[in-house]
Amino acid sequence: MRVLVLGGTQFVGRAIAAQAVARGHAVTCAARGLSGERPPGTRFVAVDRDRPDGLAALGRETFDAAVDVARAPHQVRRALAALEGRVGHWTFVSSTSVYADTETPGQRAETAPLLAPAEDGPYGAAKVACERVFGTALICRAGLIVGPGDPTGRFGYWIARLARGGEVLAPAAPEDPVQLIDGRDLAAWIVGAAERGLAGRFDAVAPACTRRTFLERCADALGSACTYAWVDQAFLDRHGVGRESGPFSLPLPLPDTIGDASRDVSATIAAGLTVRPLEETARDTLHWLKAGSGPITGLTEAEEAALLAAWRAERG
Ligand SMILES: NC(=O)c1ccc[n+]([C@@H]2O[C@H](COP(=O)([O-])OP(=O)(O)OC[C@H]3O[C@@H](n4cnc5c(N)ncnc54)[C@H](OP(=O)(O)O)[C@@H]3O)[C@@H](O)[C@H]2O)c1
Repeated sequence: MRVLVLGGTQFVGRAIAAQAVARGHAVTCAARGLSGERPPGTRFVAVDRDRPDGLAALGRETFDAAVDVARAPHQVRRALAALEGRVGHWTFVSSTSVYADTETPGQRAETAPLLAPAEDGPYGAAKVACERVFGTALICRAGLIVGPGDPTGRFGYWIARLARGGEVLAPAAPEDPVQLIDGRDLAAWIVGAAERGLAGRFDAVAPACTRRTFLERCADALGSACTYAWVDQAFLDRHGVGRESGPFSLPLPLPDTIGDASRDVSATIAAGLTVRPLEETARDTLHWLKAGSGPITGLTEAEEAALLAAWRAERG
């Protein structure tokens, strides 16, 4: 197939482009060329989607399949207009952040309520607006995307922390769910789905596991000896520990986002999503971090030790 990736130079778009090349497709990555490198074996076309004529460099080319990772509805509208009638199959990489209910476990993509769309709104609402513009495409709502190449440092935090061993500060309850997807599995599913002409709305994330299982499986895969101090969310909130990402945070989906960490993905599995073992993602991510390429966000070693000491002091 002739495949167009709008983006293709950052984590997810790059993985999709690389996967399409590996499966023998002719791949064009179209971006400004500011954020990163296109994968080997792809062609690069410079475009700027913030300019009215910004996609002109794609000329009158046709593509069997195109994938868009945009977050801004105006960019999506512009791309669909510029490429009208020239793309056989569209995939839009959306997010589980489009959902309005973050508390109810086990929700399904076909029935879960969405946020109100907002043109210039926050991330989730803007993604809903993007989805509306796409209409009948493959709408792939990704959950937390992890693995080598992840620029957010969230999964990287846990891998680096577990690799260090010892007593690990673990947030909230061990039975709370964790749900994520290796970026390479996401990319493989997207390319395969485009090959088959799949359309519709799907959550693209692996089945959930508990926090305890998540931490123990990753630690075992890294050959690391860890114990876990399960610390109340209220304590973490009182001490200003951030949720999800950034400095002084514990980047796991926390109790108020349980709905976002326990989605029913049976329809996606039935539609061909295969997920590699968590152990493989953990080991590959550690190799990537050790090679010096990956960021880590979360608590420093000293911050974690101080919080654990305060937790013990508070409990007497
Ligand atoms: N990370 C997660 O856990 C997570 C979870 C759920 C969903 N998602 C979704 O996954 C996707 C992530 O995509 P990604 O990793 O490829 O990263 P990204 O940061 O969304 O990449 C943006 C891409 O678009 C290009 N771009 C940005 N502005 C542009 C412009 N004005 N004109 C043309 N190209 C432009 C960038 O290259 P240049 O800067 O060079 O132009 C880059 O290749 C997003 O759709 C996100 O919403 C992520």
